[in-house]
Amino acid sequence: MRAGTVRPDGKADMVARVTPVDPFDLVIFGGTGDLARRRILPGLYRRFRDGHLPGDTRIVGAARSRLDSAAWRAETARALEAALPAPLLDAETRAAFLQRLSYVPLDVASPGRPSDTPDGWAALRARLHPGRVQAFHLSVAPDLFGPLAAELHRHGLAGDKARIVVEKPFGHDLASARTLNRTLARHFSEDQIYRIDHYLGKETVQNLMAVRFGNMLFEPLWKNQYIDHVQITVAETVGAGGRAAYYDRAGAMRDMVQNHLMQLLCLIAMEPPSRYEPDAVRDEKLKVIRALRPPAPGDIVRGQYRAGELGGIAVPGYGEDVGAPGSPTESFVALKLHIANWRWNGTPFYLRTGKRMGARHSEIVVRFKEPPHSIFEEDTGKGANELRIRLQPNEGIDLSVTIKAPGPGAMRLINVPLDMTFAEALGAGAETVPDAYERLIMDVIRGNQTLFMRGDEVEAAWSWTDSARAAWAKGRQSPAPYDAGSTGPDAASILMHRDGRRWRELSP
Ligand SMILES: NC(=O)c1ccc[n+]([C@@H]2O[C@H](COP(=O)([O-])OP(=O)(O)OC[C@H]3O[C@@H](n4cnc5c(N)ncnc54)[C@H](OP(=O)(O)O)[C@@H]3O)[C@@H](O)[C@H]2O)c1
Repeated sequence: MRAGTVRPDGKADMVARVTPVDPFDLVIFGGTGDLARRRILPGLYRRFRDGHLPGDTRIVGAARSRLDSAAWRAETARALEAALPAPLLDAETRAAFLQRLSYVPLDVASPGRPSDTPDGWAALRARLHPGRVQAFHLSVAPDLFGPLAAELHRHGLAGDKARIVVEKPFGHDLASARTLNRTLARHFSEDQIYRIDHYLGKETVQNLMAVRFGNMLFEPLWKNQYIDHVQITVAETVGAGGRAAYYDRAGAMRDMVQNHLMQLLCLIAMEPPSRYEPDAVRDEKLKVIRALRPPAPGDIVRGQYRAGELGGIAVPGYGEDVGAPGSPTESFVALKLHIANWRWNGTPFYLRTGKRMGARHSEIVVRFKEPPHSIFEEDTGKGANELRIRLQPNEGIDLSVTIKAPGPGAMRLINVPLDMTFAEALGAGAETVPDAYERLIMDVIRGNQTLFMRGDEVEAAWSWTDSARAAWAKGRQSPAPYDAGSTGPDAASILMHRDGRRWRELSP
């Protein structure tokens, strides 16, 4: 990440500095699945359109469906149309991209179930180019991650140039994550394993690191002495119905907190790494997770949505959505957390995430303390500064500052947001924020693991999650109901109110 120069017209020089890569082979196991259609293939198309898939780079889809390459290309063309705005899809570029695609019917055998396409692996090997980077994206059900890694090895596809991209969820508790790590380690070395958390690929999340560590302004204030609290919200409007069986086993804590919210918390709380390099960054994140205290039972709120209305449409409750009336699984969780170290002692981190909430809204708010003494009259009004990192919608960063309300009247103070998205200063191109997946896949090809989770980090996150879940298991309390389309159960607001604080509004 290097800062751009400033041109004579005052705009930043935005010549894209993309590290070029050599032609590579990418195999998408699960090439016919939802993730491939909605995120991976559209992301690759955008990289192709920008000229970042060089020479005869090849993308191979693999799944059980007995398609030929032409049929997969036709399916992919439809997926691109559904996922991308029409102006991006000119006929010539689309046809050239589809030419890079081919498909191999391949059934990944799992223990006790043999493959019904035994010659699939030979066909796949024949498509790949020895000597190139070969990336294997495991976009299949989690119980196939281990068997797939073993099969890749068995078929001679785990050599030095091979990399595997492992989707979430990475295990469902510490024991299963350890087992999966051990299985993967039998076939691939740690520097070949890319555990994906797509939140880390978001432009704004990386900008957070640039803002923190590229400026002198924030870091001296980045501590308990000046920061009142941090709040992290990931609110979704969708219900749990789309992935009912999986979600009802996992719940919000395992589905969202253990990975996405934990990663965001780490980036806010970590010490400055010595370099922006994979192990330097991941070492610092790991220290944060290890310093995180398990929440006290009174600092955890679990909720489950009931039937309600969202955008004027009636939606069913959780039990009906997942086909399990009376299910004890939480679709919402709010937590108050403490990080036991010098920097953060006494500064709480409040986290909340839920489904069927009033707005799709993800953000981190770093709320600074109020000035210790006001030189202005009491009724002038003043506020604490807030740094808001918005992940969706409208990715961006703003900082609220207190200024004088303009006009000839008395000194009256107002809080205004200082927009740090800098679209104006960055000029053309700044508005096309790349999707997380396209950045992360290109990082895999470049061999850069900075934005991927290391095995020990995932295990530490599970260890903490298991202890937090154990805390509520003792209480045997059912999740508190909340209306679909709301901000979650009242108890989540009380979690903040009792400390004299409040959540920021969810805005659509
Ligand atoms: N969808 C998302 O938004 C999302 C988000 C985050 C993480 N993930 C993770 O990404 C992975 C894929 O999710 P998804 O939503 O795309 O699932 P999906 O729609 O169910 O797709 C699964 C894919 O795996 C293939 N498959 C199933 N069994 C197979 C076997 N034995 N051998 C080879 N291929 C097989 C399926 O095709 P055939 O039936 O033709 O074999 C299909 O292409 C999962 O681990 C999920 O947890 C998904």
